[in-house]
Amino acid sequence: MRNLKAVEGRGAFANVVARRRATPAFRPDPVPDDLLQQALELGTFAPSGYNLQPWRFIVVRDPDAKRALRAAAFGQEKVEKAPVVIVACGDTAAWKDADLDRVIADGRSTGSIPDDKTASMIRRNVNAFLPKTDMGVWVTRQTMIAFSFLMLAAENLGLDTAPMEGFDEAMVRSTLGIPETARVIALLALGYADPPDKPFGGRFDLERVVYDGRWDTPWRSLSIDKETLLVNPRK
Ligand SMILES: Cc1cc2nc3c(=O)[nH]c(=O)nc-3n(C[C@H](O)[C@H](O)[C@H](O)COP(=O)(O)O)c2cc1C
Repeated sequence: MRNLKAVEGRGAFANVVARRRATPAFRPDPVPDDLLQQALELGTFAPSGYNLQPWRFIVVRDPDAKRALRAAAFGQEKVEKAPVVIVACGDTAAWKDADLDRVIADGRSTGSIPDDKTASMIRRNVNAFLPKTDMGVWVTRQTMIAFSFLMLAAENLGLDTAPMEGFDEAMVRSTLGIPETARVIALLALGYADPPDKPFGGRFDLERVVYDGRWDTPWRSLSIDKETLLVNPRK
């Protein structure tokens, strides 16, 4: 089993990763608006296929709404107790409504799409690829990247988080007015832990989850201190 030890003063990113726990209980203290704003800004800096950014986040702070959401999340207490719950959704239709146009306009104005010919090619590719794609899988793939960015950004800002998949999608939909064209991907409770936080549960050794070149060839870890490996960038 692999463990991860936070090291103060170096490897800031490794520390954030190591420190994060799925917080079981939250204090009622509110999350300052500027921290919430920063976490949302950083979360939505995530990459996505064709830069289409199909994630949609509903920030739920109203106590009545959180109570209703808790009922849709199999009664999980943290949904009501955490000061903020972010409902991460993936919009399966926005790309063809207006988002592809926006991505192309943004790309043209920043220069990341250098000319109209490239813009037309992107439009053709997206229109050929997405209609043949399982959009539930596609929006999940994209949204969970932004969700992870958001979770780590929040941790870096001194907040605690709890990711959740335990919810009834139809109930969450009707509670928050989410259309059928959007999938509810995950919930993220956000706030400050009511200690004790949960102990770290360990992670599989790399040999169990990483292969070297082929499925039948397990990764062989270097015999160096894993702590060093994680916090010491190659410079
Ligand atoms: C996508 C996802 C869904 C999860 N759903 C729930 C949930 O519904 N309820 C819950 O109590 N914990 C949930 N968890 C928390 C996991 O149990 C927890 O992340 C895991 O045990 C590892 O612990 P750690 O996050 O503290 O390292 C979820 C985690 C993830 C990533």
